[in-house]
Amino acid sequence: MDKNRRSFLIGGAAVATASLGGIGYTFSNQLTSSRALTSHSRLPVPELLDSSQGEVIVTAQDMQHEFYAGLKSKTMGFNSSYLGPTIKLYKDKQARVTFRNQLSEPTTIHGHGLHVAGRWDGGPQNIIKPGEQVTYQFDIIQQAGTSWYHPHMMGKTAEQVHAGLAGFYIIEDQHSASLNLPSVYGVNDIPLAVQDRTFVNGVMRPYSVTMEQIMEGLKEDTLVVNGSIAPYKEVPQGWVRLRLLNGSNARYHRYRLEDSSSFYKIATEGGLLERPVPMSELIMAPGERNEIMIDMSQVASRQLLCDFIGGEDLWLSLFAAKPQLALELRSTPQLEAQGELPEKLNHILGYKLTDVAVERDFVLQMDMEGEQQSDSIHAHHNMFSINGRSMNMKHINHTSKLGQLELWRISGEEMRHPFHMHGTSFLILSQNGVAPADADRGWKDTVDVNEGVTEVLLKFDVPADRQYPFMYHCHILEHEDAGMMGQFTVE
Ligand code: C2O
Ligand code: CU
Ligand code: CU
Repeated sequence: MDKNRRSFLIGGAAVATASLGGIGYTFSNQLTSSRALTSHSRLPVPELLDSSQGEVIVTAQDMQHEFYAGLKSKTMGFNSSYLGPTIKLYKDKQARVTFRNQLSEPTTIHGHGLHVAGRWDGGPQNIIKPGEQVTYQFDIIQQAGTSWYHPHMMGKTAEQVHAGLAGFYIIEDQHSASLNLPSVYGVNDIPLAVQDRTFVNGVMRPYSVTMEQIMEGLKEDTLVVNGSIAPYKEVPQGWVRLRLLNGSNARYHRYRLEDSSSFYKIATEGGLLERPVPMSELIMAPGERNEIMIDMSQVASRQLLCDFIGGEDLWLSLFAAKPQLALELRSTPQLEAQGELPEKLNHILGYKLTDVAVERDFVLQMDMEGEQQSDSIHAHHNMFSINGRSMNMKHINHTSKLGQLELWRISGEEMRHPFHMHGTSFLILSQNGVAPADADRGWKDTVDVNEGVTEVLLKFDVPADRQYPFMYHCHILEHEDAGMMGQFTVE
């Protein structure tokens, strides 16, 4: 392990180009060439649990996981040593999911991206004590897409997710099934939970943050994909569909192919785009999901790279980007190719501005003055707020009306913040006064905001009462835990 690891940590200078917002940039990095990235181990693919086969049972437990062969790290996992099974859901069907807590501490398990009532949402109120379990039984009313589940324990979300508690939901519907997209799970339809962690002699450093890391979000240096480092995966000689999740606590990711060839973005969090959008790089904020398609028909291998880029200033951080291997795809005739890239993917029926019944403003705020004083999240709870208020589980910040169209105007102070709300998906209307690019014209539940205004249109089709309200918050988990969150009911 040490030898391989050194080979991609040590090297000379190299030059690569990247662009953001249409402007080309040249930056140097510490690698002799991206090809110096060597893959270590086969990609682990989470087990698939199909909700149409009956109740799904997922158990959170304290575990040990080998990120590097033979070296055990203390982790938490759902039914496994790190992360959890992929749960398949079907539109217009009911699902029954039981979450068991075998940890030594309380947790909650939230379905991020699911349009389910507050009762089944797994927010901070929905606590599962050690040794207990909850069963969520809900109807799937949303279209095909890629969601995920993770703890949402007040003040503990960052730590529990960091320890390994996260998993995918894949929602399927008749329309998406009719498109002949790559759909053989784990073969040409592959979920990738991408995170960053720190390793000391191959052992994961347990979660801990300084005040500065609470302010900036915890940013670590090693890319971890499905709980493995620099993995490879054999795939058919055809189209491969990757479901990318930025599962980092705070890191922004930029994906690109090592040979600079294009790939196609086909879906945002809440569903397929109208059409595939060719791109040479894709930036994702924490909590976001995107599906991309890569053509493996003419090549023996392709490397998907991920650069860590800063949230404070995406422009500046391009110069400091360190490419890491997210996945090496190796095509093999042994696996049967299936699926194609359709020209038309979806019909997105947008909202009419004239139907907007309510407008709401959300300003994500950080009080920088208290910095340096203490390393405790709790001591500085009031430093992180939305509209001047820190999260208070006893306070409902607003009430939305079922079925009513709303326009939310969101902005963030000091740095970029990925804003997320529970219970629905939205469409971006504008960001900094500009209409979204084609690649962002899809159903989303998490959006990167800066000090300019991001306008989104949304409505809620499921209720959330005072006992189990929905949340909106920054998805930099350190910010969320420190109070950059609010809650609302839907009646
Ligand atoms: Cu991904 Cu409120 O959470
Ligand atoms: Cu969520
Ligand atoms: Cu934030």
